[in-house]
Amino acid sequence: MIQAVTAPPSLLEVVDLVRHFPVRNAFGRRIGWLRAVDGVSLTVWPGETLGLVGESGCGKSTLGKTVMGIYTPTAGEIRFLGREIGRLPKRERRRVAKDLQYVYQDPGASLDPRWKIVHSLHEPLKIHTTLSRAERESLVQAILRSVGLPDAHLDLYPHELSGGQQRRVGLARILTLRPRMIILDEPTSGLDVSVQASVLKLFRSLQETFALTYLFISHDLAVVRTMCQRLAVMYLGKLVEVGETAAVFAMFPAAAGSGRAARSPGRCAPPRSRRSAPSGAGSWPVTSPEEGAPVDLGFGAL
Ligand SMILES: Nc1ncnc2c1ncn2[C@@H]1O[C@H](COP(=O)(O)OP(=O)(O)OP(=O)(O)O)[C@@H](O)[C@H]1O
Ligand SMILES: [Mg+2]
Repeated sequence: MIQAVTAPPSLLEVVDLVRHFPVRNAFGRRIGWLRAVDGVSLTVWPGETLGLVGESGCGKSTLGKTVMGIYTPTAGEIRFLGREIGRLPKRERRRVAKDLQYVYQDPGASLDPRWKIVHSLHEPLKIHTTLSRAERESLVQAILRSVGLPDAHLDLYPHELSGGQQRRVGLARILTLRPRMIILDEPTSGLDVSVQASVLKLFRSLQETFALTYLFISHDLAVVRTMCQRLAVMYLGKLVEVGETAAVFAMFPAAAGSGRAARSPGRCAPPRSRRSAPSGAGSWPVTSPEEGAPVDLGFGAL
């Protein structure tokens, strides 16, 4: 008997996603468009960590924020759990936000400086759940412990925490909602190496405990190499490569060395078939590489 083999359903599917920003002159008149995300198609599978890399300004955060609903797409589709979410009314979009969360590049940005940590952790639960105060308290305590912070931190303000601790609180805040997927935007930037290692370990253990899927945006190739099963490489608003991490590193030899090599200055040539700049990326005076010249994907400029 022949059995039909069906692929597991994707968690997130982005199809031809576009997000342009208006470029205005000194008088506020629109003089063009900045194509921050310019026709990106991408699939994220349940349980995986997909890395999103590329040089500064290539559109990684804009892609993440558009998927998250922080920016409205200019065009294209965003399907999460099989449902189109790109243009949902605000109220319905908020319901999706429970399952799909975004950790900001700046760890302090998601925490209100006037609120004690306890307040910041209770707030999403008040908005998204009908839990009683006692239920919220026990959940908040359990999650805080799962990110490695003692209860005493509940009484502190964000400025009284280190960058690494702020990141843990930011994660705890998100985890209280039990999301399916988290977009981590530069989750290790600004952390020293030892803190970075413990935060990465935490991401892995949380992924296992809570069956999480990550879209992992990072400049740090040493980090994405250890964290991500697949990598998507972005350049001038477009994806120029998506594949297994090892295969992508093999295509970009200058990046494939150690983390140290990846961080040292230098240029990184993409495979021959990808050497010309993606078309349509030049409506704004971006530094467009010459035809045929190696394209620096930012791997060297870390
Ligand atoms: N709200 C906005 N309004 C106008 N332009 C924006 C806005 N947000 C981002 N941009 C522009 O879109 C482009 C992509 O920015 P984005 O922040 O997505 O890059 P990035 O790849 O995340 O860079 P980095 O690695 O430095 O964080 C940049 O040229 C940026 O100036
Ligand atoms: Mg960014």
